[in-house]
Amino acid sequence: MSLKLIHNETHCQAPSNIALIKYWGKHGLQIPKNPSISFTLDALHTKTKVKFHKKTKAEDQTVVVFEGKENPKFAEKIEKKLPLIYGDFPYLKDYYLEIHSENTFPHSSGIASSASSMAALAMCIAAASGNGEDKKLVSHAARILSGSACRSIYDKLVWWGKSPSLLQSHDEFAVPCYEAVDEIFWSYRDAVLVVSKSEKSVSSSLGHDLMHTNPFASARFQQAHQNIDLLYGAMRCGDIEHFGTIVEEEALTLHGLMMMSRPSFLLLEPNSVALILKIRKHRVLDKIPMYFTIDAGPNIHLLYPDFAKKDVEDFIQQECLDLLENKTFYLDSVGNGARIL
Ligand code: DP6
Repeated sequence: MSLKLIHNETHCQAPSNIALIKYWGKHGLQIPKNPSISFTLDALHTKTKVKFHKKTKAEDQTVVVFEGKENPKFAEKIEKKLPLIYGDFPYLKDYYLEIHSENTFPHSSGIASSASSMAALAMCIAAASGNGEDKKLVSHAARILSGSACRSIYDKLVWWGKSPSLLQSHDEFAVPCYEAVDEIFWSYRDAVLVVSKSEKSVSSSLGHDLMHTNPFASARFQQAHQNIDLLYGAMRCGDIEHFGTIVEEEALTLHGLMMMSRPSFLLLEPNSVALILKIRKHRVLDKIPMYFTIDAGPNIHLLYPDFAKKDVEDFIQQECLDLLENKTFYLDSVGNGARIL
């Protein structure tokens, strides 16, 4: 493994991911309190180019140009995090980064971008020292930059967090796990129903912190261990219904935890609830195998197998559009992890 910079410009792409079992609660240096599992997405991704400049003076600090515009707030955030990965990439001490980044999804679309942007950045940094193919190393660094980013490194279905049920699982980096599950999940789809494009009212970091004082925290961590086993079992058998039931329970648990935190947060909006009710109603009425998950915001991710594509798209057109901000939704599917361009 080279610890020196060998390319002073790198260009990488990393996808967003959607958690099925949620990471919510952490300790130490972004070590998760429970294992999580996610689908790697395809269309929703970040492309990042990094130029590495030799540091000569104290003012030589990270510059971020996001979608063509300089973004000092983002640059400051990254500047603070970079020393945390000096252990992985010692050469970073001697360079400052000029980062040019863009997303395939609009910035203020209410879709989390930290996973894809931090995964793309970790990949660029690793690629600069010729270590872009060392996924464990890239995932390790991505985790330190933003927890969920460590899952965006691998293809299709990814597990992060130590669990007795998956021998190779680890708290410090994610591992791929799609090969063991039924192939129906390799081409699963995710329609992101955008209820609100506004910035999140609670940052993930604050949300994770709230778990330190949440009276239900230990029960939650135990439940996540049980749910990941049940989910993985259902996915191995190709049991879409059991899969969906657990995924919905995870999403609502995440929001339940936020509601009962001190201070309390209610991130679902009336239209999120209306969509949940419609999804459940039409799942039964029209026999469409679609289930929802939700991150720390009001937008709904509708998950369904490839064979249900037409039925789900008709359902969105006929039942959901008026509940979405400017009728916005994104059709995505399970895809591959970060790569060098
Ligand atoms: C609700 O990875 O954004 O999306 O580690 O503080 O950067 P930090 O948090 P982040 O948290 C993601 C929380 C979640 C669930 C998940 O993706 O597992």
